[in-house]
Amino acid sequence: MSPSNRIAVTEPAAEDFEQLPFWYGLAGVDQKDYSAEIHGFTSALQDGYLGVAVGKPGRGNVETLLDLDQSRWYYARTSARVLRLNGEPIGMLIMGAHWRLWEMMKKRGAHLTGATIDGFPLGEVDFMIAAMAMAKLHVLAVHPDQHGRGHGRRLIREALKIGKADRLSMLYGQFRSDRPHLRKFYTAAGFTVLDPGEPMPLYMATGTEGDLLVVESTETIFWTTVP
Ligand SMILES: CC(C)(COP(=O)(O)OP(=O)(O)OC[C@H]1O[C@@H](n2cnc3c(N)ncnc32)[C@H](O)[C@@H]1OP(=O)(O)O)[C@@H](O)C(=O)NCCC(=O)NCCS
Repeated sequence: MSPSNRIAVTEPAAEDFEQLPFWYGLAGVDQKDYSAEIHGFTSALQDGYLGVAVGKPGRGNVETLLDLDQSRWYYARTSARVLRLNGEPIGMLIMGAHWRLWEMMKKRGAHLTGATIDGFPLGEVDFMIAAMAMAKLHVLAVHPDQHGRGHGRRLIREALKIGKADRLSMLYGQFRSDRPHLRKFYTAAGFTVLDPGEPMPLYMATGTEGDLLVVESTETIFWTTVP
């Protein structure tokens, strides 16, 4: 590749989050108002807590979270990367905590044993560690002008690299079932792609039989273990 065609996976800048509606739109997600999310990412980046509890295996991620206000945990467990061609953004990757699991995490802790670690209920800490063993791919998108050139695969490699450094056991996501090319894309990338509407067992993460990530038949879940 010539020096004038330089590809790089970079950390995001605040203005990259202004483009979130575009990237979500490519993935077929059409939310009306993105302002809260853009504000959430921008604040997390500017205040220095975006992704700070990622990639510090052992007790590191948990200890980092416990030092932060709980309202910051979600973004502290979220990673964002921008794929740039000669400095221009051509792709976006966002992965990490999933609201539904994190809401479960909060509820679980409340009625378990009275024991605590650093003031947090023991059950909550257990479930936190479990929820941290898996990450959701929220955004993985490449600019339409750049499709079919291996950039999507490059972003998957980056996601797995982040997951490995974080010692995740599982990386998963979901796409609209009416987008069959994504089944090919994720299968080619080594993911297991479930049937439309098939729920994903969460036992691996939560340790509780019967815990399921349930989706409508209009949605399809894909997942892989992280090598
Ligand atoms: C999915 C997406 C990221 C793929 O990016 P890309 O850069 O075009 O993909 P790559 O060039 O890396 O393709 C890797 C492999 O995926 C498969 N693949 C990718 N696009 C495909 C398509 N449209 N149809 C069939 N297979 C496809 C092929 O097997 C390809 O390997 P090959 O080129 O050796 O045949 C891109 O299409 C995109 O941004 N789509 C819109 C956003 C989106 O839907 N994201 C996923 C939401 S969960």
